[in-house]
Amino acid sequence: MPPVKVLAVFGTRPEAIKMAPVVQELKKSKEEFCCLVAVTAQHREMLDQVLRLFSIEPEYDLNIMRPGQSLEEITVRALEGLVEVLDREKPDLVLVHGDTTTTFVAALAAFYRKIPVGHVEAGLRTGDKYAPYPEEMNRRLTAALSDVHFAPTLKARENLLREGVPAERIYVTGNTVIDALKATVREDYIFTDPLLSTLDFNKRIILVTAHRRENWGEPMREIFSALRKIKEQYREVEIVFPVHKNPRIRDIAEEILKGVPGVHLIEPLDYEPFVNLMARSYLVLTDSGGLQEEAPALGKPVLVLREVTERPEAVEAGTVRLVGTSEGAIVEAASELLEDKRSYLKMAQAVNPYGDGLASRRIRGFLRYYFGFCLAPPPEFTCPEAGTAPVGQG
Ligand code: UD1
Ligand code: UDP
Repeated sequence: MPPVKVLAVFGTRPEAIKMAPVVQELKKSKEEFCCLVAVTAQHREMLDQVLRLFSIEPEYDLNIMRPGQSLEEITVRALEGLVEVLDREKPDLVLVHGDTTTTFVAALAAFYRKIPVGHVEAGLRTGDKYAPYPEEMNRRLTAALSDVHFAPTLKARENLLREGVPAERIYVTGNTVIDALKATVREDYIFTDPLLSTLDFNKRIILVTAHRRENWGEPMREIFSALRKIKEQYREVEIVFPVHKNPRIRDIAEEILKGVPGVHLIEPLDYEPFVNLMARSYLVLTDSGGLQEEAPALGKPVLVLREVTERPEAVEAGTVRLVGTSEGAIVEAASELLEDKRSYLKMAQAVNPYGDGLASRRIRGFLRYYFGFCLAPPPEFTCPEAGTAPVGQG
């Protein structure tokens, strides 16, 4: 029997980070799986650094990114390019990840060609169509088009069951981001970046990222003004903010924060220095999805700069707090963690509700079962206890 042909499709930085371990895992068993990669390159530089780190050379690169691209532009360019790839390769399965426009469009293209879809990181929901926008709808539409749903957690599984997805189509894996994190964070990591190699890690470092579309404009202004205030009130703190490539974010960040001493606006960092910096930071402020999963595993408190989250597990575990986007609320929450050691320690426990580093192996195991190489899938992921050693230590 020829190997099963799996086409992994992704386009942005977070998809690449979370799909890289799956691609590497599938490439291990060449007699069973032939794993090809098609990138839409909805992101360019931010995607390429991940491909380099994980030594992935895509068979197809649609190179669709344009400065200031609209959702419609991404959708049309990716759909046209992907259908051509599918016609040429005729894969047995298309594997997509998460909730970007590339994710949804790849699932749609596969549906148009009647090719089964496997959805990695399936079942995350806020219940609000416009938050995050357009990701919540991308995930729901991708679920409707998918045949196999790799849910990272039990809650994600429950969400899918509530929507009527048959139980036998859902498989709980843990999040592959923890696989990537475990492969990348090291206690003895040495920074080569000019800023990071000279940063005084005896000082408390606040790591910031922000990019969500629903935060563009006024919410972003509030967030950046809050950072300014925090820096004014706590002069010994250093704020490191790798600014997303999107000019809509850069312009406001520079207007409000450029030249503020102790606020470092830098280019997006490659994944390896970025997560190692997170491991040495005091606190994380972000509207990112991935950081809400990584920081708890590293024992770092997170203030989430959003009104809702599709990742309630770490909120319940107490390491993540939703603070929204008003300047006052952000300053207040950060001040509490900078001043009150007990509050800080309560949040700074290492918890891994999102994974144990074996998610990709489980995905391969399930696919072996799905394609008839074995009679039963491997056991599913169960959430480990809180308080395990942070990733990178022990
Ligand atoms: C996209 C995803 C979002 C995901 C985020 C991760 C959609 C609609 N949005 O949002 O779900 O959370 O990626 O970061 O799928 N740019 C560059 N170089 C790059 C990347 C981006 O210059 O390597 C600039 C370009 O001007 C581009 C703009 O950023 O047009 C926006 O990129 P886009 O992928 O449309 O949106 P993101 O906000 O990055
Ligand atoms: N990340 C990175 N460099 C940076 C900022 C983030 O490598 O400068 C990584 C981070 O570790 C996480 C992922 O990018 O794995 C999150 O991507 P992003 O916040 O852009 O997207 P989201 O997770 O919100 O979809």
